[in-house]
Amino acid sequence: MPDLPRPEFDAALRDALGETGAVGATVRQLATRLDHRPDRVERALTELRLRGDVARLGRGLYVLRDFERLDGRSDFVDPAAFVERFVRENGIALGAYAGPITFRSNESLPVHRWWPYVQGYSADFVRGVLDAAQLGRRATVLDPFAGSGTSLVEARRGGARALGTELLAPAVLAARVKTRFELPARVLRAGGRRTVERGRRRAPGTLPFLRETRRQFDPGTLDDLTRLRDALPRDETPITEALRLAFGRILIPSSRLHRSPCLGYDRRHRPSDRSPFDRFLEAVDEMAADLDSLASERAHWGPAARIVEGDSRTVRWPAGSVDLAVTSPPYVNGMDYVMNYKIDLAWLGYAHSYADLAALRSAEVACDNLPRTETLPYRSVSGSIDPWLDEILPRIRDNVARKRSYRRDDVHAVVRRYFSDLVPVLTNVRDALAPGGRFVLVVGDSLLAGTYVPADLLTARLGASLGYRIVSVEVARPRRSGQRRSFVLRESVVTLERPRSAA
Ligand SMILES: C[S@@+](CC[C@H](N)C(=O)[O-])C[C@H]1O[C@@H](n2cnc3c(N)ncnc32)[C@H](O)[C@@H]1O
Repeated sequence: MPDLPRPEFDAALRDALGETGAVGATVRQLATRLDHRPDRVERALTELRLRGDVARLGRGLYVLRDFERLDGRSDFVDPAAFVERFVRENGIALGAYAGPITFRSNESLPVHRWWPYVQGYSADFVRGVLDAAQLGRRATVLDPFAGSGTSLVEARRGGARALGTELLAPAVLAARVKTRFELPARVLRAGGRRTVERGRRRAPGTLPFLRETRRQFDPGTLDDLTRLRDALPRDETPITEALRLAFGRILIPSSRLHRSPCLGYDRRHRPSDRSPFDRFLEAVDEMAADLDSLASERAHWGPAARIVEGDSRTVRWPAGSVDLAVTSPPYVNGMDYVMNYKIDLAWLGYAHSYADLAALRSAEVACDNLPRTETLPYRSVSGSIDPWLDEILPRIRDNVARKRSYRRDDVHAVVRRYFSDLVPVLTNVRDALAPGGRFVLVVGDSLLAGTYVPADLLTARLGASLGYRIVSVEVARPRRSGQRRSFVLRESVVTLERPRSAA
């Protein structure tokens, strides 16, 4: 690949090292990851070492120099201190949530497996929440960050009316197709076969706008994918959408990329003799088999699901119409969903230019890739929406200033914008809930610029400030910090309730 200019190359190198956390990476590993010559990587690493940005461990491993030791630093407030304070201020001790919560267990489950969404949560988790809520038949369940539709599939299977909002068109497609249980499997199979027959007869088509497309796929695969894409029916019927989803699903497995969970080049990639046509037919057959197996539950299904493609900060649902809301919002400073799903957005025809991707990113709940112009109104570190944040934001800003080498100098503003983004969502859901209705959120905390951010407790506090009652905060699993592998973070289930007395 052509040499990247110096500042971009250093930034890419820092990002690649940052992703390996305290484990670090060798010159060769970094060269493969960045697709650049090892000698250039080594030269850049040497300079970054001299500048104090990078350290060399034994065994040829390089790590991004993190912030000074966290413990012992006078400004570091650790998780336990925040928990203690939360208990003192709210009279609620943290509980424990038992059961699988990550998407992994969905990968082998009928329907859920149609579109593996690493950022999703488990169907088991949603079923547990639905059971605990003891909803009557025909209850309404809302997911304001619906993702690939895990909550909606389970809600409809359990007899509820499922409503969702989701920004990302490929995820909306997945959620819509996955909740159409009545799709005739026979027609889907036949549609899949006809598409493949048409595709095999076609000439290769044009490539999507993404600059790296040729690098992302082996040449023969790339031609076949364009032929298959151009053979997909063009109408907007449920069968066409299901075929489009099957096509979307095979994109990453057909490429030189993987999501783990961020999109990146797969060092172990080898050209495969499984053509996109074969993969597509397998995906269609799997969907058809799941639809057949689901048919026996038909008597229990709730009414057709409704999924709105849009920004949850502005999409509103009828007041008092929702019995239960359940979701997992993006995490603070976490995944840039637009970047991570740019392949799907481009190939499925939902984005036609980098400007389209940028517009979507501005509507996303704030993440680390937010354009700098978007954080301008959030740069102040005081007078935020929560007194705890007013303590946390200056620490982040000061640590970033101290280290200089941080990827962006407005991290505190990204964090401030993140929590500000949650406010309208919490407000819209509160208004949509019937009195006594609950909002269950799976939230992860963060370590940012050497500063601990208790996002679960902050979300609960924001909820309380907006008139919810905090029912519980239950720790579901430990996670490793991407910045400092030894630092243990957590993922929690925050349950809020719209009080019955609320107007
Ligand atoms: C953690 S994922 C939800 C995954 C989902 N629970 C599942 O199992 O598939 C968060 C989702 O929020 C979406 N999102 C981000 N900003 C949004 C916004 N402003 N409005 C609606 N959805 C948004 C992302 O595209 C992503 O799909």
